[in-house]
Order: sequence, then structure tokens, then C-alpha cells
Amino acid sequence: MIVRYEVFDEDYIPDEILFRDSQMNRIAFCLKPAEHGSRPVNMLCLGPPATGKTTVMRYMVTHAMESLKGIYVNCQIHQTKQQIFFKIFENLYGYVPPPGISFQKLYSSILKKGVERGEILFVVLDDINLLPEKLMNEVIYLLLKGHEELMGFKVGISCISTDSKISAQFDSKIVSVFHPEEILFPVYDLEEMYEILKKRAETGIIGGKVAEDALYLIAEKSFEYLDLRFGINLLKTSVMAADRKGKDVVAVEDVEEVIEDSRSVFFRKMISALSGDEIDVLLHIYTSESRFTGDIYREMKTKMGYTKFFKILRKLEDLRLIDTAVRYEKGLRRYVVRKFKSDDVIRAVDEYAKRSL
Ligand SMILES: Nc1ncnc2c1ncn2[C@@H]1O[C@H](COP(=O)(O)OP(=O)(O)O)[C@@H](O)[C@H]1O
Ligand SMILES: [Mg+2]
Repeated sequence: MIVRYEVFDEDYIPDEILFRDSQMNRIAFCLKPAEHGSRPVNMLCLGPPATGKTTVMRYMVTHAMESLKGIYVNCQIHQTKQQIFFKIFENLYGYVPPPGISFQKLYSSILKKGVERGEILFVVLDDINLLPEKLMNEVIYLLLKGHEELMGFKVGISCISTDSKISAQFDSKIVSVFHPEEILFPVYDLEEMYEILKKRAETGIIGGKVAEDALYLIAEKSFEYLDLRFGINLLKTSVMAADRKGKDVVAVEDVEEVIEDSRSVFFRKMISALSGDEIDVLLHIYTSESRFTGDIYREMKTKMGYTKFFKILRKLEDLRLIDTAVRYEKGLRRYVVRKFKSDDVIRAVDEYAKRSL
């Protein structure tokens, strides 16, 4: 078999995106005003990791109408005001701005080019929740007030966030001008994951295939971790294992051979996205007997304050490392549900700590 390995890469954009019709229709609808020369409706895409937010937005940007200049900025990579506007400049001009350029000059060059080209800009700010709150607000504000600086400048913004409560961090300066349309990306169910993985396997493998039961096993594992990204990676490594042996059909045994490695890479990656305090809370949840958030907070209170603790809980929940729910027991009480086996998490934290020594 011939394998097109790029099809299994993180940044591969499929020709056909499954199960996201309603989101894509709503995005297209928000972009529609650009057809008539006005700026698109601003958007806020919310959802847990690996729910297709980046893929869908990048797809929409590439397939957007001609009058719209789509610019994609990944805030995980571009983490300062300078870097973000450098990226926008580069997209518009086709080259990087001269070193030492002042921010004011950079900013006005962007506005000028936007107006000159007679295009409407559509800026996607991906993973915006990874920016410090103040910076996030400043970037949105600078873009949205562009038309006050230079008449005729038109821009629409789409922010993408895994933090479902991000809009609570929008400050008063921007809420008066920024009323984004919220577009939600729910987690895929088992059936959906299976279909997406199947399609990916068909596209990526020529003259061979993944056996039905092997594919199902991959989908199941993917669903167990609620993470399609894990499934696609497991698919890739399973295909590699079969390819190495010169096989044309990827079988269950090929999946089983690589699953342990895949799992530890997956956990390690997840944990490397956490700060020290966040790892502390995670470990505590996975080792303590306590389930109610109030009790857990009390046990951790010498280490951190109330606001910080609950902020971390929310982040862990957004990353799907835990769930929280409410139960009636002498009043309403919030409790934590573990998403993984304790051993898996403890082992991953151990391995991560060893590696970073
Ligand atoms: N509906 C879909 N159809 C096909 N592939 C998808 C779909 N949704 C997500 N993927 C794939 O899953 C992985 C994670 O998607 P991504 O868009 O990066 O998620 P997010 O940005 O929400 O974290 C990517 O490899 C992407 O190609
Ligand atoms: Mg993403």
C-alpha cells in the first residue's frame, strides 16, 4: 500500500468536513455581508479540544469569497501584540515587516493596506484564551477601532476559545463594540468519530485499508479519551506499524502494538500544557478521596486562593481532564468526576516530571 502520511498530520485540512454543517452554515451566514461590501459579523467559536474549531475556521478562510481577505493567527504561537500584528502585516504585504518598525507604524501600515486593496479583512484569532486577558482585549480593540483611525478600513473577527467562559473576560472597552455570534462545537460521539476516522483512512491509504474491527478499536479508544486528535494519531501510528511489515491491511494487532505508546504521548502532551499549580490540582483530584469541590479546595487552600482554584478547575474541565456536576446533598454542592484512570494520570505526571528535570 501507499500511504499519504500528510493526511494524518495535525494541520491537514480535509476536503470534506463531516458533522459540522450547522456550524459552517452559520459561519457562512456571518460572512455574508462581505458580499455586499460590509464587514462580516464577528464570531466566537467555543468548544473543547479536538472538536474541529481550527479545521472548520481554516477551511472557511480558504474557501471564503474573493472580496474577503482571510488571515489566520494562532495565538499559541504568536503570543505578543507585536507578533500578532506582524503576522497580519505579513499576510497583507507578503513579506515580514522591517525589523525595528514601531508598533504605530506597523498598525497604520496594516490599516492602509486594508483600505488600499479594497478588501474586507477577516481575522481569525485561534486559541485566544491562551493570551493574557489584557492583551486579548487590546488586540480585539485595536482591530475593531481601526476604522476610526482610517476611514474605509473594514474588518471582521473570529475568536476561537476552549475556555467556554471567555466572554466574561472581555472588558468594558470592547463589549460596547464586540457582540460576537457564538458558535458552539460539541464533542463528537463514537459514531461520528468512527466516520471521520474511516474517511481519513480512505483518503490516506492507497491500495490498502484499515480492517473494520481495527478501525472500530481506534474509534473506541478515541472516544474513551474524548479526543479525535488521539484517534487520528493512533490511526497514523497503526498504519506505520503495518506499513513497516509490508502489509496492505492494517489489523487489530497493529493497533494494539502501538496503543500504549500513543497513550503515553497523548497524556504527556496534555500535561505539558498545564502550569505547575494546575498539575498540583489535577494530581490532588486524582489521588484524594474527596469529591466535592469545596472539600478539595479546603485541602489545597494553603497553596492557592479561592478564585485561582476555581479558575484552574474550569480549565481542567475545559481540557476534559475532569468533569464537574452538581448534586443535592444538604444544599447544592458541586463535585468532580475523574475522566481517566488514576494510574494513567499519575504515571503521565511522573514521566513528565522526569523528562523536564
Ligand atoms: N468534522 C471533521 N471532519 C474531519 N476531520 C476532523 C473534523 N473535526 C476535526 N477533525 C480533525 O481532528 C483533529 C482536531 O481538529 P481541530 O480542528 O484541530 O480541533 P480544535 O481546533 O477544536 O482543537 C484535526 O486533525 C482535524 O483534521
Ligand atoms: Mg484548534
